[in-house]
Amino acid sequence: MNCVTLFRHDEHRWLAFGQDPEKPDNVIDTNQYVICAGNSAMLIDPGGMEVFPSMLAALTRELPVEDIKVMFLSHQDPDVGSSLPLWRRVVKPDVKVYLSWLWAGFVAHFDRETTFTTIPDEGMEMSLAPDCKLRFVPAHYMHSSGNFNVYDPRARILFSGDIGAALVPASARTGMFVEDFNAHIQYMDGFHRRWLASTRARDAWVEQVSKLDIDILAPQHGLIFRGDDVKRFIDWLSKLDIGSGVAAMHK
Ligand SMILES: [Fe+2]
Ligand SMILES: [Fe+2]
Repeated sequence: MNCVTLFRHDEHRWLAFGQDPEKPDNVIDTNQYVICAGNSAMLIDPGGMEVFPSMLAALTRELPVEDIKVMFLSHQDPDVGSSLPLWRRVVKPDVKVYLSWLWAGFVAHFDRETTFTTIPDEGMEMSLAPDCKLRFVPAHYMHSSGNFNVYDPRARILFSGDIGAALVPASARTGMFVEDFNAHIQYMDGFHRRWLASTRARDAWVEQVSKLDIDILAPQHGLIFRGDDVKRFIDWLSKLDIGSGVAAMHK
């Protein structure tokens, strides 16, 4: 699995992991992120159980696994967190696992023994270290009904979960970043039209994140947006016709 550093300032780092060449083709590609602040680290959307072995190997090349003090699940999907019971075997037993209050009882179906720290609908601040304060930003119905992004104001990075996700064929990948926004639209267009349904939620999300200073928008699938492509993506999403699955119910 590949790893790139998105941000580094003193002991504060953002690492992005993904595009594992060993991954079976029928398992959707995911990005996993780690924020390090000294020897406290947060693992964001640790991924499915299928990617656990390669993700653990890649992570331990960068930091000791004992540094993971916090885990965060943006929502309930299996590609986001079905590796949770495996991670809990290798991290310290007092790891804190943050998740929307809406999903704790559901995710317990794949990890009954985790005690979740539940996030209220309005989101919350979380201190990974005294000088590394993060915000869990609500992104409900985008696509999950209990869903959060992670904003780091110092790194100016927004982890956006499935928002900004793209299914990029291996032949079209030239790295971890979007290099040509217009050429990238084809890989994210169908996903956003089908997986997002609520224009009210989309408009509220756009309004909310437009107020943030974002240098990098980092999704859970596909390529990472940086610089002017962040605004390009938000503008593109703000005008997209979503809810394409509804048409199947009108037949
Ligand atoms: Fe999802
Ligand atoms: Fe996903």
